[in-house]
Amino acid sequence: MSSGASEQLANKVALVTGSAQGLGRALSDRLAQAGAQVALLDLKEQEVTAAAAEVAEQYGVDTLGLAADVTDEESVARAFDAAVERFGRVDIVVSNAGILISGDITEFDVAKWAKVVEVNLVGYMIVAKHAARVMIPRGSGVIIQINSKSGKTGSYKNSAYAASKFGGIGLTQSLALELAEYNIRVNAICPGNLLDSPLWVDSLYKQYAERWGKTVDQVRQMYIDKVPLKRGCAYDDVADAMLFLCCDGASYITGQALNVDGGQTMH
Ligand SMILES: NC(=O)c1ccc[n+]([C@@H]2O[C@H](COP(=O)([O-])OP(=O)(O)OC[C@H]3O[C@@H](n4cnc5c(N)ncnc54)[C@H](O)[C@@H]3O)[C@@H](O)[C@H]2O)c1
Repeated sequence: MSSGASEQLANKVALVTGSAQGLGRALSDRLAQAGAQVALLDLKEQEVTAAAAEVAEQYGVDTLGLAADVTDEESVARAFDAAVERFGRVDIVVSNAGILISGDITEFDVAKWAKVVEVNLVGYMIVAKHAARVMIPRGSGVIIQINSKSGKTGSYKNSAYAASKFGGIGLTQSLALELAEYNIRVNAICPGNLLDSPLWVDSLYKQYAERWGKTVDQVRQMYIDKVPLKRGCAYDDVADAMLFLCCDGASYITGQALNVDGGQTMH
């Protein structure tokens, strides 16, 4: 039995990319809590297999761990086929897998810059392409891209990431236009800084503290101070928005990029 209170997504099947850890894992938890069967897809085979088993155990839903690289179309196609074979269909796809490599433009290695665009933008296109392939014959579906506030405003010394995320909004709007006739809604969520995520805790605080001669606590406070609502973004903030966009209450919403950032971006 599921321990989910709402069961809003009972009988739905969801697939989440980049779900071995971090936000993707938290979103998989929330989908399972709402009663969905969840396919977790990630580059990291062992970790995603373990994550799928944990989600099944915790929420009492059927799950599947899929090892795939979102930049490799064949592996993505195989993963979608495996999910359809196991669950019969895919109703909800959350394109969450993403990477961040920052750097000064004069020193930015072009291959690294292109890699960020390859994962964050081309990877989203490949995932959305195969989501559409399995959703079109059913005449319904929900595609959600996890974007960023860096998809709406430039990001200092973070040009590859911002360019990839801006592109993601163009792709979201274009796919929303193209897939509307099949009753497939396509939206993006633009979270603010997830200040407790591995990206920040394991890497960014230290990098910024060294760069600016500040302590990790001072860096964290600096980022909180940028937010009108005065806190970092939590996984639950993003999960709440995702669940709303998945449900019938959002049936008239497509082609949007919803800021979930405490008011930091207002366009
Ligand atoms: N952390 C933040 O502050 C923040 C803020 C706004 C938006 N986001 C976005 O949220 C999403 C998740 O971020 P996170 O902080 O949880 O990241 P994370 O690095 O903790 O997790 C990303 C996951 O994606 C997987 N992944 C990476 N490349 C992949 C590929 N080519 N194919 C399949 N899987 C791949 C990784 O193995 C990892 O498990 C990203 O799209 C990111 O841009 C993060």
